Amino acid sequence: MEKTKKILIDTDIGGDVDDALALALALNSPELEIVGITNVYLANEWRAGVTKHMLKVYGREDIPVRTGAEKPLIGWWDENRIPNSSKTAAPVDEEESAAACDFIVQMARAHEELTLVAIGPLTNVALAIAKAPDIVNRVNIVMMGGELDKAHPEWNIVCDPEAARIVFESGAKIHMVGLEVTNRCRFTKEDIGRICQAGNPRTSLLGEMMELFTQNFGYLPILHDPLALSVLLWEDILTFEEKKVLVETGGQYTRGLTIDCDWGEGVPVQAAVDVKEALFKERLIGRLVL
Ligand code: RIB
Ligand code: CA
Repeated sequence: MEKTKKILIDTDIGGDVDDALALALALNSPELEIVGITNVYLANEWRAGVTKHMLKVYGREDIPVRTGAEKPLIGWWDENRIPNSSKTAAPVDEEESAAACDFIVQMARAHEELTLVAIGPLTNVALAIAKAPDIVNRVNIVMMGGELDKAHPEWNIVCDPEAARIVFESGAKIHMVGLEVTNRCRFTKEDIGRICQAGNPRTSLLGEMMELFTQNFGYLPILHDPLALSVLLWEDILTFEEKKVLVETGGQYTRGLTIDCDWGEGVPVQAAVDVKEALFKERLIGRLVL
């Protein structure tokens, strides 16, 4: 049997429902061992509570949870932005309130091969790298973030461009799954119906979260974060190419852009350029209904 892959998920769960779908996919995938979950970006204690509630429903309260950085390294944040795709959050204890970046360092040093699955703004990961630069030789990073085919700042990058730049320029091995592929993967009402029909406590929770998300955001779930996680499960879903990427941290109109810069200074990463969306959705639904 193939060895399980150890992962640590860094997530802004609670806002866009795709983080919850990614966590559900990871929890229902025997190929993966989740060594911990860290939360990031505003209302972290609540996000950690949402994570804990999900773990309880999935019978996985053994997985450690930590709260992370509230604000980006510098610049803008919106304190009034309330994440809203979950009705329920469990209480968080003192240990869980400890800094996520320290936990990331600890886990990176404790495991020979660890993949950081970064599906929120990159503040925690950047802080971990700043504290312990040696961890970049020990971890792989799979991130949902950026967009290389147009001048559009993607959320996880634009929320903390300096953090994103630290991560990109750290020398870590990076797989980047951006909006050019994730925007092509969307649930329809029928897809959600199929998941809910499974009728178990896990799919009931996902159904409730997807309904709340759709009401509050005004559109059906886009599968950004589970698509990023799929890199670790199925090699035939995404096509990657090496790109040299720069993160714009200045710029009057361009702050937070990821730029495909093949003329020199860009950092080589594996960037997703194509996706088999129908096949991905089938496989994702197959795992979510378990
Ligand atoms: O731009 C999409 C990303 O922003 C996803 O990770 C989504 O969950 C939000 O964090
Ligand atoms: Ca996310």
